[in-house]
Amino acid sequence: MFPFLIIFPILFTLSSSTPLEEFLGSRSTDDYNIHAVLVAGSNTYDNYHHQADVCHAYQVLRNHGVPIENIILMIYDDIANNSKNPYPGKIFNVPFGPDVYAGLLKDYTGMELTPENFLGVLKGDKDLAAKGKKVLTSGPNDHVFIYCANHGATGLIGFPTGALSSDDLNKALVYMHEHKMYDKLVFYLEACNSGSMFENILPDNINIYATTSANSVELSYACYCDEPEFHTCLGDDYSVSWLYNSDFNDLAIETLEQQFKYVVEGTIKSHPQQFGQKSIASLNVGQFLGENTSSKIHAARSYPKDFVNSRDVPLVMLRRKIERTDDAAEAAVLAKELQTLIDGRRFLEASMENIVSQLCFNGYCSDVEKILSTQQPLVNHSTYSKVAKKFQSSCLNLGIHTDGMKFMYVFANLVESNNFTESTLNRFLADLEKACNDHIVNHKFKAII
Ligand SMILES: *[C@@H]1O[C@H](CO)[C@@H](O)[C@H](O)[C@H]1NC(C)=O
Ligand SMILES: *[C@@H]1O[C@H](CO)[C@@H](O)[C@H](O)[C@H]1NC(C)=O
Ligand SMILES: *[C@@H]1O[C@H](CO)[C@@H](O)[C@H](O)[C@H]1NC(C)=O
Ligand SMILES: *[C@@H]1O[C@H](CO)[C@@H](O)[C@H](O)[C@H]1NC(C)=O
Repeated sequence: MFPFLIIFPILFTLSSSTPLEEFLGSRSTDDYNIHAVLVAGSNTYDNYHHQADVCHAYQVLRNHGVPIENIILMIYDDIANNSKNPYPGKIFNVPFGPDVYAGLLKDYTGMELTPENFLGVLKGDKDLAAKGKKVLTSGPNDHVFIYCANHGATGLIGFPTGALSSDDLNKALVYMHEHKMYDKLVFYLEACNSGSMFENILPDNINIYATTSANSVELSYACYCDEPEFHTCLGDDYSVSWLYNSDFNDLAIETLEQQFKYVVEGTIKSHPQQFGQKSIASLNVGQFLGENTSSKIHAARSYPKDFVNSRDVPLVMLRRKIERTDDAAEAAVLAKELQTLIDGRRFLEASMENIVSQLCFNGYCSDVEKILSTQQPLVNHSTYSKVAKKFQSSCLNLGIHTDGMKFMYVFANLVESNNFTESTLNRFLADLEKACNDHIVNHKFKAII
């Protein structure tokens, strides 16, 4: 708690311009409406933190006056009533905080949480709208805010049904710009490797400003993972920082840049990044989250703690449960569960090594070890997207087997080192399918999660 209180005032005094200049400079003369899309891209109790972040974001928008009808909420919604939830019907994003599940209007739940539906929402898809589903209806003067909390990998963010590629996401954003669906758009993204969703792809001249929880090569971290009773993580390091900051500040005055600096200071385990049109960061946060003075202080202040990288939450939670239980029978059941998980992960790791070896044998690389142990920056997002789709359709469903996400960087390495042409790419995709058939499909592991 102590460092939180210190950091809070310092950031405002560090700012280069005076509060008055910021205030005047940040006013928008045009009338605009705020439209928001909030997405928690995971399911199961182990991923509680993603849905909790997103529910909290919904409360921030509501508390600052963004009308319900302008918010599109996509959450799987298997947490509140989960049999493991110690507080049925409630979700908490911070220890001793308020219930962030109260009063939500959910627009897409369960298996509606697909990359296709998310892209459809962004593009204002007419077929979805015809089915009575909410899609963005924003126009050329409007401000759009998008926040997603997902599993992530190089150039990918996860959904319960499969991963969305950076190429498809950025194409949708460009489409929105071309179709005048916003004046300005702000995108906050919580995911492992989230920097790779925008690095070398998001244009800096289409009025979009994005921040991410992590750079392109690092993991994102869940926090509050050691709260009694919960046996899961309540939030994420970067997300609770910006959400807190929004709960406590006057968003009609604070700028996006000030909030970003606060989040950089507050995020302990990863390095939040900025992308796109950074001049937008001089606008006030309220132009995207609502400028009304919040009627509620949302949570007791508490600094993020007890971090676990997003991918290892299931593993760490099982280990802790085993350590803590006094019941031998329960311990035996948990130990078996843990062993299945570990075996699944080992199988996946060995399979990926075999797949890469076979691809090197096919001529796409010379050094298996190097492909496995380096992370090249992703530049050719469109080619990578094709490879990632092939991997998902022919090798492993990354929506169910999210642990597979952690190996996707090898395909970025292969894409970047091969400089494929259309025909060599097609040959590569066929060879990838063959390698997967040889080493991974028909796996017996339900638990590679
Ligand atoms: C925001 O505040 C204004 C002024 O107090 C009020 O008229 C308006 O209804 C509020 N908007 C929402 C959505 O609460
Ligand atoms: C959770 O349970 C309550 C009470 O039984 C019910 O009203 C509600 O619809 C359930 N919600 C979900 C998402 O299943
Ligand atoms: C990739 O291939 C294209 C077309 O064959 C060629 O023009 C380009 O120089 C190559 N780039 C690299 C980095 O090898
Ligand atoms: C990406 O690779 C494709 C071939 O798969 C090539 O046609 C395209 O020019 C490359 N794009 C960039 C930006 O290098």
